Amino acid sequence: MFFIQCYVLYRRLKEQNLIKMTEVKKEKRGGINFFNCDNIEFMKTKPDNYYDLAIVDPPYGIGADKKQNAGGKQWGYKEYLKTDWDNDIPPAEYFEELKRVSKNQIVWGGNYMTEHLPPSMGWIIWDKGQRNFSLADGEMAWTSFNKAMRIFEMSRGKVLAKDNERGGRIHPTQKPVELYRWILTKYAEKGMKILDTHGGSFTNAIACDEEGFELDICEINEIYFMNGVYAFDVYKSQTKLF
Ligand SMILES: C[S@@+](CC[C@H](N)C(=O)[O-])C[C@H]1O[C@@H](n2cnc3c(N)ncnc32)[C@H](O)[C@@H]1O
Repeated sequence: MFFIQCYVLYRRLKEQNLIKMTEVKKEKRGGINFFNCDNIEFMKTKPDNYYDLAIVDPPYGIGADKKQNAGGKQWGYKEYLKTDWDNDIPPAEYFEELKRVSKNQIVWGGNYMTEHLPPSMGWIIWDKGQRNFSLADGEMAWTSFNKAMRIFEMSRGKVLAKDNERGGRIHPTQKPVELYRWILTKYAEKGMKILDTHGGSFTNAIACDEEGFELDICEINEIYFMNGVYAFDVYKSQTKLF
């Protein structure tokens, strides 16, 4: 009887929105676990050093989600969801949790987050093969590795061509699968467990699958999450044909 009363009370509170369920939507494909959730809440559930390597691409705080909508179409980009996730970089708590749950980290846009990241010699540059154009010549990732700085070269034109081969871009700041594969071959070793806290289009999931790594990947936006899992499934069904 007591439990029935509790359940009735719970249903009433939930109907009135006084209880918010923090249900995490999950999808699993082989060694890849997709989570539709807030990354800080997710990391809080993990013990220290649970991941060997975190490869993350947080908001840079430069409004890139809106810039693509505003002027990107002329460069072959399309109109994306109206969002405001790139207004700010993540809070200090994010970086504390990231360093706690992972042994090493690669942080795209680290040049916008130097208040949270110590000096490092191991930066990665993605050289986009263009010079003195209105868009940046490249992007930078901070790494925790005590290694020499390295450069990955892939032009914007090649990125768009590869995206089109895979059915087109689905996210305004989608990074190429090839970039993530290059990172995995240079900075990860077989058997490592990888974390990505800002999934976006989930191209990192395709790269980890192709390179045979286990990955936990979070994305807070439900539509990006569903589109990303769908794109992953399409990629898998195409690779099975060959
Ligand atoms: C720079 S984009 C990542 C792009 C991704 N690397 C790609 O190649 O498609 C950052 C993503 O983080 C997501 N995001 C922002 N805050 C988040 C949070 N607290 N938890 C999980 N995801 C978050 C945004 O919705 C956005 O899709």
